[in-house]
Amino acid sequence: MNDQTLTSAQRAERLQGMGCKRKRVEDIRFVQGKGSYVDDVKLPGMLYGDFNRSPHAHARIKKIDTTKAKAVPGVLAVLTAADLKPLSLHYMPTLAGDVAAVLAEDKVLYQNQEVAFVIATDRYVAADAADLVEVEYEGLPVIVDPFKAMAADAPLLREDIKDKKDGAHGQRKHYNHIFNWQIGDKDATDAAFRKADVTIKELISYQRVHPCPLETCQCVASFDKIKGELTVWGTFQAPHVIRTVASLISKIPEHKIHVISPDIGGGFGNKVGAYPGYICAIVASIVTGRPVKWVEDRIENLSTTAFARDYHMTTEIAATKDGKVTGLRVYTIADHGAFDACADPSKWPAGFFNIVTGSYDFPVAHVSVDGVYSNKAPGGVAYRCSFRVTEAAYCIERAMDIMAQKLGMDPAEFRMKNLIRREQFPYTSALGWEYDSGDYHVALQKAMDAVGYAKLRIEQKAKREAFRRSETRELMGIGVAFFTEIVGAGPSRNCDILGIAMFDSAEIRIHPTGSVIARLGTKSQGQGHETTYAQIIATELGLVADNITVEEGNTDTAPYGLGTYGSRSTPVSGAATAVAARKIKAKAQMIAAHLLEVHDDDLEWDVDRFRVKGNPERFKTMTELAWAAYNKVPPGMEPGLEAVSYYDPPNMTYPFGAYICVVDVDVDTGVTKVRRFYALDDCGTRINPMIIEGQIHGGLTEAFGIAMGQEIHYDDDGNVTTASFMDYFMPTAVETPKWETDWTTTPSPHHPIGAKGVGESPNVGGVPCFANAVNDAFKFLGSTHIAMPHDHWRTWAVAESLGLHQ
Ligand code: CDP
Repeated sequence: MNDQTLTSAQRAERLQGMGCKRKRVEDIRFVQGKGSYVDDVKLPGMLYGDFNRSPHAHARIKKIDTTKAKAVPGVLAVLTAADLKPLSLHYMPTLAGDVAAVLAEDKVLYQNQEVAFVIATDRYVAADAADLVEVEYEGLPVIVDPFKAMAADAPLLREDIKDKKDGAHGQRKHYNHIFNWQIGDKDATDAAFRKADVTIKELISYQRVHPCPLETCQCVASFDKIKGELTVWGTFQAPHVIRTVASLISKIPEHKIHVISPDIGGGFGNKVGAYPGYICAIVASIVTGRPVKWVEDRIENLSTTAFARDYHMTTEIAATKDGKVTGLRVYTIADHGAFDACADPSKWPAGFFNIVTGSYDFPVAHVSVDGVYSNKAPGGVAYRCSFRVTEAAYCIERAMDIMAQKLGMDPAEFRMKNLIRREQFPYTSALGWEYDSGDYHVALQKAMDAVGYAKLRIEQKAKREAFRRSETRELMGIGVAFFTEIVGAGPSRNCDILGIAMFDSAEIRIHPTGSVIARLGTKSQGQGHETTYAQIIATELGLVADNITVEEGNTDTAPYGLGTYGSRSTPVSGAATAVAARKIKAKAQMIAAHLLEVHDDDLEWDVDRFRVKGNPERFKTMTELAWAAYNKVPPGMEPGLEAVSYYDPPNMTYPFGAYICVVDVDVDTGVTKVRRFYALDDCGTRINPMIIEGQIHGGLTEAFGIAMGQEIHYDDDGNVTTASFMDYFMPTAVETPKWETDWTTTPSPHHPIGAKGVGESPNVGGVPCFANAVNDAFKFLGSTHIAMPHDHWRTWAVAESLGLHQ
């Protein structure tokens, strides 16, 4: 069939554009083992670096002796803080306005902190020699519990800043205090609580977890002394930011730094910031004149690179007796570890935690967050969430269930009563966000109908009665969660990193034959960007997706961008892609008008061509126009067909979802079986439904891991007791439940294609849904709040504490 015989619909289908379940183009290389990751980079003369790390959580360093390590054959050098200090590189700036030690100088502040960096000709020699670095320590008292960090007699952790009265976010009230951040109307909120018929108050803690991507953090640094140029291959979610930071720290001009993020095996926020390994590899390469590779192992990844959560939220809701919420008050202690290395936009020390009013119409709210130092690893990254949104969603969704319980209302009915109504959008929340669009009641009703919610409650009632009669030892729990995400950081008025506005970019270049290369400032870590950005271009420009190459991760070729995290790729770079494509289309229209000898306005767009209005036989396809752009442009027009867009979004996007989970808990073993998990997501216009489903499956699996077992746990001495997959729950296909996915579509009114982000939604909504299900199982026995994680042992202990084992 040629073009003439195809209908518009057939031509549209051929493009594999937006809405198509296009197969992931990156999988062709991945399933054949042909991906190219950092550890695949092998350069002539390459050296390897490895760390000697502290066994203590808090100790003074009395002496470091590198003699034995240096004597190992194959070792070229051993770096300590004393070597980095003259270069002012023993500390590095963090994204949160603090500094973090690259190599510990006088003190170590958490277990496994980097103390010395051994450079050798072989990875295993480097590891063996690192063990031979002799460090004499004097142990100091440890802070593990963030609630004790600001006690009058708490040990002083950060001697380097002990006299600083002000931190990056204002006054510090204690030497272990980082910031206090408040938002909302305190007086109005206090008044709402005074007037309330019913109130609840609960400490809702979100335990410390870790993004634990399967590929750990790693880099190869190669300094060319002749050219004075530095090339760094790394697992960087934001390669341009790394280039700028590397230039600022090293003073190497930015144009002489080349940062390359090749294929990345999962990031989830873990690979946004800079780590001592990067700095040490760069310094080692400059010192030795040879490329240096640093690859962390699993224990190093779990115990030292950026953790997530560790938020302890004292949450109060005020409501009328008929179940209308009237106020929300949250006080949070945020444990940031030894250095404040949170990856948040500069102005937001608690990220977007003020989305904590969730999907509900709270007239007033007030939030106060205190960040504190402790003897734990630094971080506080947005693990598959948009800067503390997951903490906020867990907080409000648990609190709503607790309030429903107190009111004696069904949790779904209580939510229905308080959800923001469709006609209220755009909706400004009590804590200052403008939600772009939503149709919450339809989504929750669809979810309830899909699972047969009313019937499930009847079944649960019968089971509870059977339990009371001792006919069964199983409890049934039904978890409901309705979440609103805030993704797409961000409008430059609200969001920057190190002073760089959080826009993002796309550059599209059409070749004469109509094939395309597009380059973007974001960086996929498994999300399928090569597939989906091509789909946007295919629809916008009427060119077949298979003829479009999408490239990310090379700072020499990609336009400047702030990278991929916080589900910002679609809201920001997806928009930039559409805008750049539209610039190209506008030029193509002028070329078409010239070729067809009509006025621009006499043309209309039809899938893949401009045709003359009223005379559809006369047209020029986009492929023809690409050719013409290189030889037949109108007089005065420059040849070529390309455009770039740096897109500063006018607002965030607000995806949402309604999740329902059914669990059966065996009270004698604590074993909790997930019978059903239904997830309805609304991410506006859907670019690739199959990729969206994959994102939901992945995120729900992470949510299952977090809610049902994960915790980065420290003992009282600050030893990490969960630093390997033997102890840190990583769900495999064996444990992972079956997911049921569904959707509604409420486009974003301000996004050029109406799309919102989706990647993080399942992590954000999944965790409270599991938690609500487990809590729901026990609540008829008088329990109000059971803390995560809900592993079998803890769940058994809950049953024990409720007297169910007599
Ligand atoms: O920033 P990140 O890629 O992690 O998150 P995202 O923007 O939510 O996109 C994740 C993947 O889902 C990408 O491949 C998107 O193109 C795809 N997606 C989609 O197909 N439709 C949407 N409305 C949103 C995302």
